[in-house]
Amino acid sequence: EAMLAVHQRHFNSVTAEDAMKMHYIAKEPGVFDFASADAMLAFTRERGQRLFGHTLIWHSATPEWVERLAERDPAALDAFMRDYIYSYVGRYQGKVAGWDVVNEAMNTAGGGYRETVWYKTLGREYIAKAFSYAHEADPAAVLFYNDFNLERDAEKLDSALEMIADLKEQGVPISGLGFQMHIRMDVPDEVIAQALRKGAATGLQIHLSEVDIIFNTHGDTRGGGVQLYDELTDDMRRQQAEKYRKLAMMYRTIVPEQQQFGITFWGFDDGGSWIRGFFELNDWPCLFDGNLEPKPAYFGFRDGLTAKLED
Ligand code: XIL
Repeated sequence: EAMLAVHQRHFNSVTAEDAMKMHYIAKEPGVFDFASADAMLAFTRERGQRLFGHTLIWHSATPEWVERLAERDPAALDAFMRDYIYSYVGRYQGKVAGWDVVNEAMNTAGGGYRETVWYKTLGREYIAKAFSYAHEADPAAVLFYNDFNLERDAEKLDSALEMIADLKEQGVPISGLGFQMHIRMDVPDEVIAQALRKGAATGLQIHLSEVDIIFNTHGDTRGGGVQLYDELTDDMRRQQAEKYRKLAMMYRTIVPEQQQFGITFWGFDDGGSWIRGFFELNDWPCLFDGNLEPKPAYFGFRDGLTAKLED
């Protein structure tokens, strides 16, 4: 109840953390079960919020049966992808504002294509195909490439930008770039700013798609948390507020207004954040604390969103 009230009051766009991923929708061969996506749509419609689609093609959400199908019959993987995207994006045409069409196609660090089942079976062409299918199914939807660490790993960002330039040159209908923006207090603001400049230079819509800010660190792997701080001090609260303020300011000052798709948080309260379970890390990444009270981070972010900009 309290959770819903906070959600409704502060947010006008929603991304499902898991409910719209492939392993929910295509649990078994030959059946698409849209119940969890329908529920998201109903939820957002009741509240007048925008629904964002996350995510069509992602190695981590690809069901095992699809991987086995790919091994048996590569052509069947392409046929499945087309059917999946047509059915899914088509069903929500005009209802889902945009999609993360392909998620995390670059290697974790340093760039280059990640060798997923999609890549190994269809080559990098799977990416162009996924965007084309999505565009055919909903020509008005904003279609994103989404990835993590793009703000701090320049090699990875350049590699993604090269791919995007390539896709655009081929006439592939890509219209957005998502910076997941799972950041840490020690990622320098200037590094983030530089990455946003490069991203904005593509002319694409820019989405900060999964924002959170942690204090501790991890190896980008499940269970890979490294606990550096055991408790959150007032100093840390203030520093985090400042980091959130700057992030909002950078987005507003670097990304031209007509390219601002929005800023989405990956969870809004420290109690519900994925960071704890996924990395096995005790951390405080969000705008609200475990009691759903706004943290200094909330006020910092709000200041960054509302501060008057010089023109
Ligand atoms: C995470 C969810 O938050 C978890 O609940 C799930 O166990 C794993 O996926 N990048 C993404 C998101 O694009 O889909 C991930 O979400 C976090 C990293």
